[in-house]
Amino acid sequence: MSTDVIVLAAGKGTRMYSDQPKVLHPLGGKPMLSHVLDAAAAIDAETIHLVTGFQSAQVREYFDKHPVATPLNWVEQREQLGTGHAVMQAVPSVSDDKTVLVLYGDVPLISPASLQQLRDKAEATGIAVLTLVTDNPAGLGRIIRDDQDRIVAIVEEKDATPEQKRITEINTGIMAFNAGRLKTWLASITTANAQGEYYLTDTVAIACGDGGTVSGLQTFDDDEVQGVNNRLQLADLERSYQRRQARQLALQGVTVSDPARLDIRGPITVGRDVMLDVNVILQGSNRLGDRVTIGPNVILIDCDIGDDCVILANSHLEGARLSSACTIGPFARLRPGTELGAHAKIGNFVETKKSTIGAGSKVNHLSYIGDASVAENVNIGAGTITCNYDGVNKYKTTIEADVFVGSNTALVAPVSIGRNATIGAGSVITSNVPESDLAVARGRQKNIRGWKRPVKK
Ligand code: UD1
Ligand code: CA
Repeated sequence: MSTDVIVLAAGKGTRMYSDQPKVLHPLGGKPMLSHVLDAAAAIDAETIHLVTGFQSAQVREYFDKHPVATPLNWVEQREQLGTGHAVMQAVPSVSDDKTVLVLYGDVPLISPASLQQLRDKAEATGIAVLTLVTDNPAGLGRIIRDDQDRIVAIVEEKDATPEQKRITEINTGIMAFNAGRLKTWLASITTANAQGEYYLTDTVAIACGDGGTVSGLQTFDDDEVQGVNNRLQLADLERSYQRRQARQLALQGVTVSDPARLDIRGPITVGRDVMLDVNVILQGSNRLGDRVTIGPNVILIDCDIGDDCVILANSHLEGARLSSACTIGPFARLRPGTELGAHAKIGNFVETKKSTIGAGSKVNHLSYIGDASVAENVNIGAGTITCNYDGVNKYKTTIEADVFVGSNTALVAPVSIGRNATIGAGSVITSNVPESDLAVARGRQKNIRGWKRPVKK
């Protein structure tokens, strides 16, 4: 049987105190709602019906820019009249033979495994509820079971008797249905309750009244059903998510100095014997080869790091591709378009941008290399700057193999330095240097013999 998913995301998210829709707030580097859509995709949902209301244009705009593989059906819920009402807006576009799962856009860590099991149960009985036993059921719908332990109703906190409020098994909100039967049940729910809302949860008692069986699936993982209503809950869930990723990496063979001090905000691929020190942030999509060592406080954004590279403390790399055995930092900044050959070295306080630096070349201290092509075995002295920008346009610097650039050199682009050339320290190079020449472009030193310093009057 094929499956559709309805995601409820029309709520206002008042307690986020944000101009951004709640479901677009990121967790692990991507919107909460994207996690939910990924879970739906993982169980092969045919169509995802996205019920939005408050700030729906912003949500739509995001997914127009970041398309997902599963077809999305956008459903507008103009007034938020309850979870039942939200589902009513979506069901007309779900065919009766389907199994339909109802997820929440603000419950991001729901696991495909639980959804799979819940779907199986709904396929057997027509209706299934994901429940959790918790010490803190306040505010949530309670699961009412009869003396034979069968689920017969869900009662919202505001409608519950003091005795029902003592029940610790709660409705996570995540449910699965046979679509045809869901439509019939929805037709008979009313707003006769404490909140005057259409409760999706009323389908449970209605199904039982019809003589049906309601399946329950209990989860033991409270993170997967944790909803986010404020930024404290979001921060707590972020920590759980990060700890989970760190644990997974450690079990997969990565040395993680402290699983509580690692943040992975996107997909990563890692080789063998990778070492991640404390406070490392891996953002976007990153690949780390075998035996890569990442020092403390390093940020990698969309990088490809070859085998045996060492990134020392406090370095910031974005959109960089490193071949094997490069050494970076400490305190280096590699900007997008940086490509390093094997054994290249970028030292402290060096910034690179849109530049290739060949195998074995070194830029060890205090330099800016931008829009440059540097070949193999080049040594760039401390304080060298490629002057790539005249205030209007950008120009290229080309440095051929085996060049030695003396310290504190300004290379005024466009300029090229021929193979094996040498540049004297402190030079301002404004024209090309032929192969194997020495270029010195600075004032000559003048010594004045026996110079008398002025004396105080
Ligand atoms: C609901 C359940 C409750 C469960 C709890 C778990 C009902 C009646 N109650 O509570 O049993 O324990 O979730 O968190 O279903 N939404 C809409 N449109 C609406 C109303 C809600 O899209 O008209 C969305 C919200 O954005 C949110 C989700 O549905 O993502 C749940 O709404 P919320 O108000 O948080 O849940 P409750 O109704 O309090
Ligand atoms: Ca909620």
